[in-house]
Amino acid sequence: MAKTLKVGVIGVGGIANTHMPGWKDSPYTEVVAGSDISDAALHKWGTQWSVPQLSNKPDDLINDPDIDIIDICTPNNYHAPLAIAAMKAGKHVICEKPLGPNPESIRQMIEARDETGKTLMTAQHFRFSGQAKAMKAEIDTGSLGEIYHARSWMLRRSGAPTRPGFILKSHATGGPCIDIGVHILDLTLWFMGNPKPVAVTGVSRAELAHQKGAFSVWGGPIPKEFDVEDFAAAFVRFENGATLILEVSWMLHHDTNSEDMQMWLYGKNGGSHWPKCEVYSTNYATQQHYNTTLQIAKDIREPHAQECVEFAQAIIDGAPSPVPAEQSLQVLTILDGVYRSQDTGAEVLLD
Ligand SMILES: NC(=O)c1ccc[n+]([C@@H]2O[C@H](COP(=O)([O-])OP(=O)(O)OC[C@H]3O[C@@H](n4cnc5c(N)ncnc54)[C@H](O)[C@@H]3O)[C@@H](O)[C@H]2O)c1
Repeated sequence: MAKTLKVGVIGVGGIANTHMPGWKDSPYTEVVAGSDISDAALHKWGTQWSVPQLSNKPDDLINDPDIDIIDICTPNNYHAPLAIAAMKAGKHVICEKPLGPNPESIRQMIEARDETGKTLMTAQHFRFSGQAKAMKAEIDTGSLGEIYHARSWMLRRSGAPTRPGFILKSHATGGPCIDIGVHILDLTLWFMGNPKPVAVTGVSRAELAHQKGAFSVWGGPIPKEFDVEDFAAAFVRFENGATLILEVSWMLHHDTNSEDMQMWLYGKNGGSHWPKCEVYSTNYATQQHYNTTLQIAKDIREPHAQECVEFAQAIIDGAPSPVPAEQSLQVLTILDGVYRSQDTGAEVLLD
Protein backbone atom coordinates (compact mmCIF):
# COMPACT_ATOMS: atom_id res chain seq x y z
CA MET A 1 0.00 0.00 0.00
CA ALA A 2 1.37 3.46 -0.89
CA LYS A 3 2.47 5.46 2.12
CA THR A 4 0.63 8.74 2.57
CA LEU A 5 3.38 11.20 3.55
CA LYS A 6 6.22 11.80 1.06
CA VAL A 7 9.47 13.03 2.59
CA GLY A 8 12.24 15.14 1.04
CA VAL A 9 15.55 15.36 2.91
CA ILE A 10 17.74 18.46 2.55
CA GLY A 11 21.41 18.10 3.57
CA VAL A 12 22.26 14.44 3.23
CA GLY A 13 25.60 14.27 5.08
CA GLY A 14 26.05 12.49 8.39
CA ILE A 15 22.93 12.87 10.51
CA ALA A 16 20.43 12.44 7.66
CA ASN A 17 21.36 8.74 7.60
CA THR A 18 20.12 8.27 11.17
CA HIS A 19 16.65 9.52 10.18
CA MET A 20 16.24 7.07 7.31
CA PRO A 21 15.38 3.94 9.38
CA GLY A 22 12.59 5.96 11.05
CA TRP A 23 11.08 7.11 7.75
CA LYS A 24 11.27 3.49 6.56
CA ASP A 25 9.67 2.08 9.74
CA SER A 26 6.81 4.56 9.93
CA PRO A 27 3.65 3.16 8.33
CA TYR A 28 2.97 6.64 6.90
CA THR A 29 6.22 7.90 5.37
CA GLU A 30 8.34 7.28 2.33
CA VAL A 31 11.48 9.23 1.39
CA VAL A 32 11.12 10.19 -2.26
CA ALA A 33 13.75 12.92 -2.72
CA GLY A 34 17.01 14.35 -1.42
CA SER A 35 18.95 17.54 -1.93
CA ASP A 36 22.48 18.63 -1.10
CA ILE A 37 24.82 21.28 -2.46
CA SER A 38 27.47 18.55 -2.68
CA ASP A 39 26.87 16.24 -5.65
CA ALA A 40 29.19 13.64 -4.13
CA ALA A 41 27.21 13.51 -0.85
CA LEU A 42 23.93 13.45 -2.77
CA HIS A 43 24.81 10.54 -5.01
CA LYS A 44 26.38 8.51 -2.21
CA TRP A 45 23.24 8.93 -0.08
CA GLY A 46 20.84 8.39 -3.00
CA THR A 47 22.55 5.11 -3.87
CA GLN A 48 22.74 3.94 -0.24
CA TRP A 49 19.03 4.53 0.39
CA SER A 50 17.72 3.97 -3.16
CA VAL A 51 16.14 7.42 -3.36
CA PRO A 52 15.28 8.23 -6.98
CA GLN A 53 14.82 12.02 -7.04
CA LEU A 54 18.07 13.89 -6.36
CA SER A 55 18.76 17.60 -6.82
CA ASN A 56 21.45 20.05 -5.77
CA LYS A 57 18.76 22.74 -5.49
CA PRO A 58 16.77 22.52 -2.22
CA ASP A 59 14.01 24.59 -3.86
CA ASP A 60 13.25 21.66 -6.19
CA LEU A 61 12.09 19.71 -3.12
CA ILE A 62 10.47 22.66 -1.37
CA ASN A 63 8.35 23.46 -4.45
CA ASP A 64 7.50 19.84 -5.32
CA PRO A 65 3.72 19.48 -4.81
CA ASP A 66 4.06 15.73 -4.16
CA ILE A 67 6.25 16.23 -1.06
CA ASP A 68 4.53 16.57 2.34
CA ILE A 69 7.47 16.68 4.78
CA ILE A 70 10.83 18.43 4.51
CA ASP A 71 13.54 16.98 6.76
CA ILE A 72 16.31 19.58 7.25
CA CYS A 73 19.78 18.20 8.04
CA THR A 74 22.06 21.01 6.84
CA PRO A 75 24.49 22.98 9.04
CA ASN A 76 22.82 25.31 11.56
CA ASN A 77 22.79 28.60 9.67
CA TYR A 78 20.65 27.20 6.81
CA HIS A 79 17.89 25.73 9.00
CA ALA A 80 15.64 28.78 9.31
CA PRO A 81 15.54 29.98 5.67
CA LEU A 82 14.89 26.44 4.42
CA ALA A 83 12.27 25.69 7.09
CA ILE A 84 10.40 28.96 6.50
CA ALA A 85 10.38 28.46 2.72
CA ALA A 86 9.22 24.85 3.17
CA MET A 87 6.33 25.75 5.51
CA LYS A 88 5.27 28.58 3.19
CA ALA A 89 5.22 26.01 0.37
CA GLY A 90 2.83 23.88 2.45
CA LYS A 91 5.24 21.32 3.94
CA HIS A 92 5.54 20.03 7.48
CA VAL A 93 9.11 20.44 8.76
CA ILE A 94 11.34 18.38 11.01
CA CYS A 95 14.64 20.19 11.50
CA GLU A 96 17.90 19.16 13.10
CA LYS A 97 19.10 20.86 16.28
CA PRO A 98 19.60 23.69 17.00
CA LEU A 99 16.27 24.64 15.40
CA GLY A 100 17.83 28.01 14.56
CA PRO A 101 21.21 29.44 15.54
CA ASN A 102 19.67 32.32 17.53
CA PRO A 103 16.33 33.27 19.10
CA GLU A 104 15.32 35.65 16.28
CA SER A 105 15.57 32.93 13.61
CA ILE A 106 13.34 30.66 15.71
CA ARG A 107 10.79 33.42 16.25
CA GLN A 108 10.58 33.76 12.45
CA MET A 109 10.08 30.00 12.11
CA ILE A 110 7.29 30.09 14.69
CA GLU A 111 5.66 32.94 12.77
CA ALA A 112 5.77 30.92 9.53
CA ARG A 113 4.39 27.87 11.34
CA ASP A 114 1.48 29.88 12.74
CA GLU A 115 0.75 31.52 9.40
CA THR A 116 0.68 28.18 7.57
CA GLY A 117 -0.68 25.82 10.22
CA LYS A 118 2.07 23.30 9.45
CA THR A 119 3.79 21.06 12.02
CA LEU A 120 7.32 22.10 13.01
CA MET A 121 9.52 19.92 15.18
CA THR A 122 13.12 20.12 16.40
CA ALA A 123 14.98 16.82 16.12
CA GLN A 124 15.94 16.59 19.80
CA HIS A 125 16.45 12.85 19.64
CA PHE A 126 17.51 12.38 23.27
CA ARG A 127 13.88 12.95 24.29
CA PHE A 128 12.88 9.83 22.33
CA SER A 129 15.00 7.28 24.23
CA GLY A 130 13.37 4.91 26.73
CA GLN A 131 15.62 6.32 29.48
CA ALA A 132 14.46 9.89 28.87
CA LYS A 133 10.79 8.95 28.57
CA ALA A 134 10.93 6.97 31.83
CA MET A 135 12.67 9.81 33.68
CA LYS A 136 10.20 12.39 32.33
CA ALA A 137 7.21 10.22 33.32
CA GLU A 138 8.66 9.74 36.84
CA ILE A 139 9.34 13.47 37.32
CA ASP A 140 5.87 14.33 36.00
CA THR A 141 4.32 12.29 38.86
CA GLY A 142 5.73 15.00 41.13
CA SER A 143 8.08 12.66 42.96
CA LEU A 144 10.89 15.25 43.12
CA GLY A 145 8.55 18.00 44.32
CA GLU A 146 9.50 21.52 43.32
CA ILE A 147 12.81 21.34 41.41
CA TYR A 148 14.96 24.23 42.62
CA HIS A 149 18.37 23.41 41.16
CA ALA A 150 19.91 21.48 38.27
CA ARG A 151 23.44 20.63 37.19
CA SER A 152 23.93 19.54 33.60
CA TRP A 153 26.93 18.92 31.45
CA MET A 154 28.00 17.45 28.14
CA LEU A 155 31.78 17.17 27.99
CA ARG A 156 34.14 15.56 25.52
CA ARG A 157 37.87 14.98 25.47
CA SER A 158 39.44 15.79 22.06
CA GLY A 159 35.93 15.40 20.62
CA ALA A 160 35.50 18.42 18.35
CA PRO A 161 33.98 17.79 14.95
CA THR A 162 36.32 19.15 12.28
CA ARG A 163 33.91 19.77 9.38
CA PRO A 164 33.38 23.42 8.34
CA GLY A 165 29.67 23.10 9.16
CA PHE A 166 30.58 22.87 12.86
CA ILE A 167 33.75 24.90 13.39
CA LEU A 168 33.08 28.07 11.37
CA LYS A 169 30.73 30.79 12.62
CA SER A 170 29.71 31.42 9.00
CA HIS A 171 28.01 27.96 8.88
CA ALA A 172 27.34 27.11 12.53
CA THR A 173 27.15 30.44 14.46
CA GLY A 174 28.72 28.78 17.53
CA GLY A 175 30.62 25.75 18.79
CA PRO A 176 29.75 23.22 21.51
CA CYS A 177 27.54 25.70 23.37
CA ILE A 178 24.87 25.46 20.67
CA ASP A 179 26.00 22.16 19.12
CA ILE A 180 25.82 19.87 22.15
CA GLY A 181 24.71 22.34 24.85
CA VAL A 182 21.41 22.29 22.99
CA HIS A 183 21.02 18.55 23.72
CA ILE A 184 21.58 18.53 27.47
CA LEU A 185 19.83 21.87 28.01
CA ASP A 186 16.75 20.81 26.04
CA LEU A 187 16.51 17.62 28.08
CA THR A 188 17.06 19.43 31.38
CA LEU A 189 14.41 22.09 30.72
CA TRP A 190 11.95 19.42 29.53
CA PHE A 191 12.45 17.39 32.72
CA MET A 192 12.08 20.58 34.81
CA GLY A 193 8.76 21.38 33.10
CA ASN A 194 10.20 24.19 30.93
CA PRO A 195 10.31 27.01 33.52
CA LYS A 196 10.82 30.44 31.97
CA PRO A 197 14.51 31.52 32.02
CA VAL A 198 15.04 35.11 33.15
CA ALA A 199 18.82 35.63 33.43
CA VAL A 200 22.11 34.01 32.45
CA THR A 201 25.74 34.57 33.31
CA GLY A 202 28.10 32.67 31.04
CA VAL A 203 31.48 32.25 29.42
CA SER A 204 32.27 30.79 26.00
CA ARG A 205 35.88 30.60 24.94
CA ALA A 206 38.33 28.65 22.80
CA GLU A 207 40.89 27.43 25.35
CA LEU A 208 42.44 24.35 23.72
CA ALA A 209 41.45 24.36 20.02
CA HIS A 210 44.37 26.55 18.96
CA GLN A 211 47.04 24.72 20.94
CA LYS A 212 49.82 23.22 18.82
CA GLY A 213 48.88 19.65 17.90
CA ALA A 214 45.23 19.94 19.00
CA PHE A 215 43.36 17.07 17.40
CA SER A 216 40.00 15.36 17.28
CA VAL A 217 39.56 11.64 17.90
CA TRP A 218 37.05 11.77 15.03
CA GLY A 219 38.92 13.67 12.36
CA GLY A 220 42.61 14.51 12.64
CA PRO A 221 43.95 17.97 13.51
CA ILE A 222 41.72 20.90 14.49
CA PRO A 223 41.71 23.12 11.36
CA LYS A 224 43.38 26.51 11.89
CA GLU A 225 40.20 28.21 10.58
CA PHE A 226 38.32 27.07 13.76
CA ASP A 227 36.66 30.31 14.94
CA VAL A 228 34.04 29.12 17.46
CA GLU A 229 34.37 28.40 21.20
CA ASP A 230 35.49 24.99 22.50
CA PHE A 231 34.13 25.50 26.04
CA ALA A 232 31.14 27.20 27.66
CA ALA A 233 29.73 27.38 31.16
CA ALA A 234 26.70 29.17 32.54
CA PHE A 235 24.56 29.93 35.56
CA VAL A 236 20.88 30.37 34.70
CA ARG A 237 18.03 31.81 36.80
CA PHE A 238 14.37 30.95 36.16
CA GLU A 239 11.21 32.92 36.89
CA ASN A 240 10.09 30.29 39.45
CA GLY A 241 13.32 30.77 41.46
CA ALA A 242 15.05 27.62 40.15
CA THR A 243 18.70 27.74 39.06
CA LEU A 244 20.86 25.72 36.68
CA ILE A 245 24.59 25.22 36.20
CA LEU A 246 25.53 24.18 32.65
CA GLU A 247 28.94 23.07 31.36
CA VAL A 248 29.71 22.15 27.77
CA SER A 249 32.87 21.35 25.87
CA TRP A 250 34.17 19.55 22.80
CA MET A 251 37.65 19.31 24.29
CA LEU A 252 38.54 19.36 27.97
CA HIS A 253 41.27 17.55 29.89
CA HIS A 254 38.48 15.43 31.34
CA ASP A 255 38.47 11.87 32.59
CA THR A 256 36.69 10.26 29.69
CA ASN A 257 37.68 9.01 26.27
CA SER A 258 34.29 9.64 24.75
CA GLU A 259 31.47 11.76 26.11
CA ASP A 260 30.32 12.55 29.63
CA MET A 261 26.68 13.67 29.55
CA GLN A 262 24.87 13.94 32.87
CA MET A 263 22.06 15.77 34.59
CA TRP A 264 21.35 16.09 38.29
CA LEU A 265 18.01 17.54 39.39
CA TYR A 266 17.35 18.59 42.98
CA GLY A 267 13.79 18.99 44.21
CA LYS A 268 12.24 19.53 47.65
CA ASN A 269 11.05 15.89 47.83
CA GLY A 270 13.75 14.14 45.84
CA GLY A 271 16.70 14.29 43.49
CA SER A 272 17.43 12.43 40.27
CA HIS A 273 20.23 11.50 37.94
CA TRP A 274 20.08 11.00 34.20
CA PRO A 275 21.17 8.79 32.49
CA LYS A 276 21.49 6.51 35.53
CA CYS A 277 17.71 6.97 35.88
CA GLU A 278 17.94 7.02 39.66
CA VAL A 279 15.73 8.90 42.14
CA TYR A 280 16.96 9.84 45.63
CA SER A 281 14.83 10.76 48.64
CA THR A 282 15.06 11.01 52.41
CA ASN A 283 12.57 10.13 55.13
CA TYR A 284 13.45 12.67 57.82
CA ALA A 285 11.26 10.90 60.44
CA THR A 286 13.37 7.73 60.20
CA GLN A 287 16.53 9.41 58.91
CA GLN A 288 16.48 6.88 56.09
CA HIS A 289 17.84 7.51 52.60
CA TYR A 290 16.15 5.85 49.62
CA ASN A 291 17.71 5.29 46.19
CA THR A 292 15.42 3.96 43.46
CA THR A 293 16.48 2.84 40.00
CA LEU A 294 13.83 3.06 37.30
CA GLN A 295 13.30 -0.03 35.18
CA ILE A 296 13.69 1.00 31.56
CA ALA A 297 11.84 -0.76 28.77
CA LYS A 298 14.08 -1.61 25.83
CA ASP A 299 13.97 1.09 23.14
CA ILE A 300 11.67 0.17 20.25
CA ARG A 301 14.15 1.74 17.89
CA GLU A 302 17.17 4.05 17.94
CA PRO A 303 16.06 7.55 19.14
CA HIS A 304 16.89 9.43 15.89
CA ALA A 305 14.63 6.98 14.05
CA GLN A 306 11.98 7.08 16.78
CA GLU A 307 11.70 10.89 16.54
CA CYS A 308 10.82 10.61 12.84
CA VAL A 309 8.20 7.94 13.54
CA GLU A 310 6.58 10.06 16.27
CA PHE A 311 6.70 13.21 14.11
CA ALA A 312 4.80 11.43 11.31
CA GLN A 313 2.31 10.01 13.81
CA ALA A 314 1.63 13.51 15.20
CA ILE A 315 0.88 14.78 11.67
CA ILE A 316 -1.51 11.89 10.99
CA ASP A 317 -3.24 12.37 14.37
CA GLY A 318 -3.39 16.18 14.07
CA ALA A 319 -1.55 16.22 17.43
CA PRO A 320 0.84 18.95 18.63
CA SER A 321 4.48 18.79 17.61
CA PRO A 322 6.33 16.30 19.86
CA VAL A 323 9.07 18.94 20.36
CA PRO A 324 7.38 22.36 20.25
CA ALA A 325 9.39 25.20 18.69
CA GLU A 326 8.55 27.38 21.72
CA GLN A 327 10.66 25.05 23.88
CA SER A 328 13.53 25.28 21.38
CA LEU A 329 13.22 29.07 21.49
CA GLN A 330 13.64 28.90 25.27
CA VAL A 331 16.79 26.74 24.87
CA LEU A 332 18.34 29.09 22.30
CA THR A 333 17.42 32.15 24.36
CA ILE A 334 19.62 30.77 27.15
CA LEU A 335 22.48 29.68 24.86
CA ASP A 336 22.45 33.00 23.01
CA GLY A 337 22.51 34.65 26.44
CA VAL A 338 25.73 32.74 27.22
CA TYR A 339 27.40 34.31 24.16
CA ARG A 340 26.04 37.76 25.06
CA SER A 341 27.26 37.40 28.64
CA GLN A 342 30.73 36.42 27.36
CA ASP A 343 30.74 39.61 25.26
CA THR A 344 29.56 41.92 28.06
CA GLY A 345 31.23 40.19 31.02
CA ALA A 346 28.00 40.54 32.97
CA GLU A 347 24.71 38.79 33.70
CA VAL A 348 22.24 39.10 30.81
CA LEU A 349 18.51 39.51 31.41
CA LEU A 350 16.43 37.39 29.02
CA ASP A 351 13.19 38.41 27.25
N1 LIG B 1 20.83 15.14 16.59
C1 LIG B 1 22.09 14.75 16.51
O1 LIG B 1 22.51 13.81 17.16
C2 LIG B 1 23.01 15.45 15.55
C3 LIG B 1 24.29 14.94 15.32
C4 LIG B 1 25.10 15.58 14.37
C5 LIG B 1 24.65 16.71 13.72
N2 LIG B 1 23.40 17.21 14.01
C6 LIG B 1 22.92 18.44 13.34
O2 LIG B 1 22.62 18.12 11.99
C7 LIG B 1 23.01 19.17 11.11
C8 LIG B 1 23.95 18.60 10.06
O3 LIG B 1 25.02 17.93 10.70
P1 LIG B 1 25.80 16.72 9.98
O4 LIG B 1 26.63 16.07 11.02
O5 LIG B 1 24.88 15.88 9.20
O6 LIG B 1 26.74 17.58 9.02
P2 LIG B 1 27.43 17.09 7.67
O7 LIG B 1 28.47 18.10 7.38
O8 LIG B 1 27.84 15.65 7.78
O9 LIG B 1 26.26 17.17 6.60
C9 LIG B 1 25.62 18.36 6.23
C10 LIG B 1 25.27 18.28 4.75
O10 LIG B 1 24.55 19.46 4.39
C11 LIG B 1 25.01 19.89 3.10
N3 LIG B 1 24.70 21.30 2.98
C12 LIG B 1 25.36 22.37 3.49
N4 LIG B 1 24.70 23.51 3.21
C13 LIG B 1 23.60 23.16 2.49
C14 LIG B 1 22.53 23.89 1.92
N5 LIG B 1 22.45 25.21 2.04
N6 LIG B 1 21.58 23.21 1.24
C15 LIG B 1 21.64 21.86 1.11
N7 LIG B 1 22.65 21.12 1.64
C16 LIG B 1 23.60 21.75 2.33
C17 LIG B 1 26.49 19.56 3.10
O11 LIG B 1 27.00 19.47 1.78
C18 LIG B 1 26.51 18.22 3.84
O12 LIG B 1 26.40 17.12 2.96
C19 LIG B 1 23.63 20.25 12.01
O13 LIG B 1 22.68 21.25 12.27
C20 LIG B 1 23.97 19.53 13.30
O14 LIG B 1 23.89 20.34 14.44
C21 LIG B 1 22.59 16.59 14.88
